Amino acid sequence: MLGFSYLMGSALVLASVVSSTSILLPLYEWPTDNTTWAPVYEAAVVHPEIQFQVIVNPDSGPGDTQYPESEYVSAVAQLNTYSNVQVLGYIPTEYATRDISDVESDISTYSGWAKYKKQNITVDGIFFDEAPNTNDTSKISYMTEISKFARADNLTTIVFNPGTKLDDGSVNGYFDAADLIVEFENSYDTWITCVPADEFSAPDDYSKDAVLLYSAPLEANYDEVLQEAKQMGLGAAYLTNTDDYKNADSISKVASAMQLW
Ligand SMILES: *[C@@H]1O[C@H](CO)[C@@H](O)[C@H](O)[C@H]1NC(C)=O
Ligand SMILES: *[C@@H]1O[C@H](CO)[C@@H](O)[C@H](O)[C@H]1NC(C)=O
Ligand SMILES: *[C@@H]1O[C@H](CO)[C@@H](O)[C@H](O)[C@H]1NC(C)=O
Ligand SMILES: *[C@@H]1O[C@H](CO)[C@@H](O)[C@H](O)[C@H]1NC(C)=O
Repeated sequence: MLGFSYLMGSALVLASVVSSTSILLPLYEWPTDNTTWAPVYEAAVVHPEIQFQVIVNPDSGPGDTQYPESEYVSAVAQLNTYSNVQVLGYIPTEYATRDISDVESDISTYSGWAKYKKQNITVDGIFFDEAPNTNDTSKISYMTEISKFARADNLTTIVFNPGTKLDDGSVNGYFDAADLIVEFENSYDTWITCVPADEFSAPDDYSKDAVLLYSAPLEANYDEVLQEAKQMGLGAAYLTNTDDYKNADSISKVASAMQLW
């Protein structure tokens, strides 16, 4: 009996860890000073049980220099002080048409941030934007290659953002290569009129699926969206009031709503 309830207990703990929904925050605003990203720091402190995956993006990628500018360094180092925050570097793939050596060079730049001595600007993973969703084997191979390249460079969390549902015949290939795939990036208005189950490939993969909604006014019903995302067991979610992720004004609202369910 004792053994049985012990096992039940572990299974429950495991299930709640696996099904938790994190916040995937595209943070594309330049940190002019240490107040710019303060709403993100505060949300991380107020909600220690929520996992934040924060996408940093100095210049539509890591930029041309070995390390980012000093204010960027300070802001990333501040993110790294929170154990519930993971930092992901933004890299576009232009739907797998970008020269793969340029993508790999960007990966190496982010990976190299771990060598910066004065502050900890280690990056934990990569957010590949403009990811393909088609079933061409060449595109699946491209994404698989850059994912392996990043993982070999200690960038262990890999996110693909096709922003739309994966084509039949590509689902296993892309999900094998990524930890998380954004199968729905669209406006809030589009989300509330869609049938969410039609927008993601397969329930088996929901825990590795993410939803990003833009143009969600701060008065919109964030609670309902996040309740649905959590009930589906999606891996990550975020809503922004902007259409370009150039502020983090909605982060406290997203985190509070995420906490509710
Ligand atoms: C933020 O900037 C102010 C003014 O430059 C400074 O006094 C403060 O220590 C900084 N805070 C952090 C957390 O770096
Ligand atoms: C730097 O930050 C990363 C990510 O938060 C963390 O895993 C690592 O332990 C930190 N390294 C040091 C030397 O503190
Ligand atoms: C990966 O991390 C380990 C441990 O911190 C380090 O020794 C190694 O050099 C890193 N590899 C790369 C490619 O950065
Ligand atoms: C590949 O995707 C196209 C477009 O959605 C679809 O018509 C085709 O059936 C898919 N091929 C396979 C092998 O699933």
